[in-house]
Amino acid sequence: MVTEAGQATGPGRQPAYEDPQLAARYEHGNEMPAESLRAWAELIAGYAPEEAASAPGTSPASTAGARMPGVLEVGSGTGMFCTALARALPAAEVTGVEPSGPMRAEAERHHAHPRVRYLAGSAERLPVPAAGFGLALLSRVVHHLPDRPAAARELARVLRPGGRLVIRTTVRERLDAPVYRYWPRLLETDAARFPSEQEILADFRPAGFRVHRVHSFAQPVAADLRQWRERVAGRAQSKFLALSEAEFAAGLARVDAEVAGARGSEPVLERYDVIVLERVGGVGTAAPGEGAK
Ligand SMILES: C[S@@+](CC[C@H](N)C(=O)[O-])C[C@H]1O[C@@H](n2cnc3c(N)ncnc32)[C@H](O)[C@@H]1O
Repeated sequence: MVTEAGQATGPGRQPAYEDPQLAARYEHGNEMPAESLRAWAELIAGYAPEEAASAPGTSPASTAGARMPGVLEVGSGTGMFCTALARALPAAEVTGVEPSGPMRAEAERHHAHPRVRYLAGSAERLPVPAAGFGLALLSRVVHHLPDRPAAARELARVLRPGGRLVIRTTVRERLDAPVYRYWPRLLETDAARFPSEQEILADFRPAGFRVHRVHSFAQPVAADLRQWRERVAGRAQSKFLALSEAEFAAGLARVDAEVAGARGSEPVLERYDVIVLERVGGVGTAAPGEGAK
C-alpha cells in the first residue's frame, strides 16, 4: 500500500527515511532554535517519573543500586530529542528506537551521549523488555505508523503502570504549519496522512492508556522567514515528497518574494499538539470510566 509519493507501508518501513541523502539533510532541515528545543525537552521531561529527574546517585532508587525507569523515544530519527531529554533528566537512561539505518547513523554522528543508546526497531516491534520505561515519546511519528493499534499495544507493553506516553504531533483538525501558506496542496496531503485526536485516542485507549493531558500551542521553529527558508530548501521533511520539483520551486519562489519584500522578520511559528497518555491496568484493558479528555 502507498500512502504518499514514495512511502510504502509495512511494519517499520518508511523508504523516505531509508534514503541516506534525506537522512543527511534531516538534521539541519529540522533543527529548531536551541531555546525551543530546551523548552520542549523540559515540557516532555516534566512527565517523567521523579527518579529520572534526580541527580545521579541521589535518589533512593539509585543509591540502592536499582535501575532507573528508562526513557524511550520511538522513531528517534537523528536523535535530537534523545540527547535533549538526557540533558533535562540527569538520572535517566534514554533509548532511541528507529527503523532507518541512515537515520540511526546520523543520530550516532550528531547526538551521541553517554546515557543515550540507539536501537534498530519499529513502534510495532520494540526491541526492549516489558515494563522497563517510565516515559515514552512519539515525536512527529504517529502519522507514519502503518498499524497504530499494534504500536499502542507495544507501547503499553514497555511502559510500567503509571508511565506516560507523550505524543508530539499536529492532529488533523488543527493542522497549521507555515508550509501550507507557500505550498497549499500540502494541507490536503497532510490532512490525508495525519490522524485526528479522536482517532489517536480510539487506538491507544483499548491498549491500556488513559488521557492525562492534551496541550495545543504555536511555537517558534525559526528565528525569521529567511532562516526558515534556508532550512526548508533542503526538502528534509517527508511531506515534500508529495510535490513535484516544479511545485516545490514555485512555493520556494513565494517564500523568496516575501523575504525580498522584507516581510517575515518575525519568528516563524508552527502549531503542535501534545497528547499525554498514562499507562493503566493490564494490556488490553480500557481505562475505567474515561471521559473525552
Ligand atoms: C519526522 S521523523 C521524526 C524524528 C524525531 N522523532 C524528531 O522529532 O525529530 C519520523 C521518524 O519516524 C521513523 N518511523 C517511521 N515509521 C516508523 C515506525 N513504524 N516505527 C518507528 N519509527 C518510525 C522514521 O524513520 C523517522 O526517523
